[in-house]
Amino acid sequence: MFQPVQIAPSILSADFMNFAQDIDMIREGGAGYIHFDVIDGHFAPNMTVGVPVLKQLRKHTDMPIDVHLMITNPLVQLPWFLACKPDMVTVHAEALTGEGELQQAVDMIHEAGSKACVSVKPKTPVEVLEPVMAQLDMVLVMSVEPGFSGQSYIEGTDQKVRAVVEMARAAGSAPLIQVDGGMGLKTAPLVAAEGADVIVCGNAVFGAEDPKEAIRTIAAAADEARLAALAKAEA
Ligand code: DX5
Ligand code: ZN
Repeated sequence: MFQPVQIAPSILSADFMNFAQDIDMIREGGAGYIHFDVIDGHFAPNMTVGVPVLKQLRKHTDMPIDVHLMITNPLVQLPWFLACKPDMVTVHAEALTGEGELQQAVDMIHEAGSKACVSVKPKTPVEVLEPVMAQLDMVLVMSVEPGFSGQSYIEGTDQKVRAVVEMARAAGSAPLIQVDGGMGLKTAPLVAAEGADVIVCGNAVFGAEDPKEAIRTIAAAADEARLAALAKAEA
């Protein structure tokens, strides 16, 4: 059955002096998730927001929040973020390379009642997801190096999305697939055609003249590509 593609605006590009209005605006525009980017200055070269802002945001809205943790020590910090009751938490496989660490993070997230997502950076092979694939609610495929909004989509990410779809199928699961970085009207259809369900948009939404319209047009273009790919597969 056809599931429409969801847009997840990234708060990195929001106006922090008018944060609440921006959140309400993306809700009205039909966004599926708030993509809450946390960067610690170690895992990636930038520093963003953390627990105090997440706590306030949770009080402000019941929109689904996905916390994208780009931090070096997720096992230490996860409890702080989970205490804010985000709907979903995304951890990076590259920060959880020790024996059993990825599994431990997924378990911590689930035990707290949130959904679990694991992300891979552009150069990380999807194979690292294999041990936990069957338990994931979502997989995040990065289409830029983590750090900043406004970067260009790395060509070939659509094939990586396809590889995740195939790996999930082999594991007997069907996690949502999210793509993050350089997504917009031209690039979202590329990954949607290969199986992406959730498209993170920073610049393409908050940098648009009419962000609500941007959410609608990017979602429509992604849906169209997805429908065309489905029709082709069924023919
Ligand atoms: C990058 C962040 C992204 C970023 C997306 O490290 O994870 O979510 O803000 O921004 P755009 O869509 O502008 O590439
Ligand atoms: Zn992100």
